Amino acid sequence: MTDRDKELVEQINSLRKQRNAVLLVHNYQRSEIHDIADFIGDSLELSQKAAATDADVIVFCGVHFMAETAAILCPDRTVLLPDVDAGCPMADMITADRLREKKEELPDAAVVCYVNSSADVKAESDICCTSANAVKVIDAIDDNEILFIPDQYLGHYVSTKTDKRIHLWPGYCPTHARIQPEDITRLKEKYPEARALVHPECRPEVIELADAVLSTSGMCRYAQESDANEIIVGTESGIIYRMQKENPDKTFIPISDKAVCPNMKKITLEKVLWSLKEMSPQVTVPEPIRIRAKQAVDWMLEIV
Ligand code: 13P
Ligand code: SF4
Repeated sequence: MTDRDKELVEQINSLRKQRNAVLLVHNYQRSEIHDIADFIGDSLELSQKAAATDADVIVFCGVHFMAETAAILCPDRTVLLPDVDAGCPMADMITADRLREKKEELPDAAVVCYVNSSADVKAESDICCTSANAVKVIDAIDDNEILFIPDQYLGHYVSTKTDKRIHLWPGYCPTHARIQPEDITRLKEKYPEARALVHPECRPEVIELADAVLSTSGMCRYAQESDANEIIVGTESGIIYRMQKENPDKTFIPISDKAVCPNMKKITLEKVLWSLKEMSPQVTVPEPIRIRAKQAVDWMLEIV
């Protein structure tokens, strides 16, 4: 850590106490952000933490939909997103208007909404899911016809695990879509003992070659619990910092140097400090939308 970083961390630490703030950090964040976290996790764990916190301020080190989910669950807390432009291109691939049109075409389908979506879209949905619980959510609801939004690849993966009829929305994550099957075959040749873990946002032809398909925290648990010493990490490469820290004797191999989410990297120590100083940028959700979106998130949290 540079002297400048140490200075920034000291100032963040004194302000977070003063403000009674909690720092929630997604697994894809920069290493220096991992190091200042109160809690690091996947989307599901972070929304559970947000729902349970007694802090006055939540500093969300992740992307916009994650901070928005915290604001949906905790309207009486201040939710800060240190860079308001840290968005998720997949979440932008659907709007509430387009979803309403699709629902008219498919009046009998229940809408299952991946949390990587805006509050407006959640408000139009029946239930949310994350990568950690998508199959469980689909199994738990009574409906047999489902409109799965917005990730076509997670939706396709889920469709291979259920007999229910699933309609897909054509959204995708650009970071995971860059991962190719050849990335796994090439690395498996080089590291024949390695296990390949992939995120369900990957293309079906990548998922087919994987040893396990897991959410980001699912991958961290696998790394700790399995006897594998070499692991090919088929997701955004920021997670490797955590895996290596928790398993110093194991080898973690990034699946591709293209698996980087530029939005996740927008959060820096400087921006965390500024946001705590200025109590900005805040993420809020208009009350009528929040109430409807919360029903979809709450139902998911009851099932998990
Ligand atoms: P997880 O919920 O598995 O952490 O995934 C979040 C995400 O944005 C993956 O691209
Ligand atoms: Fe969105 Fe993909 Fe980045 Fe996750 S990794 S935040 S899905 S763009």
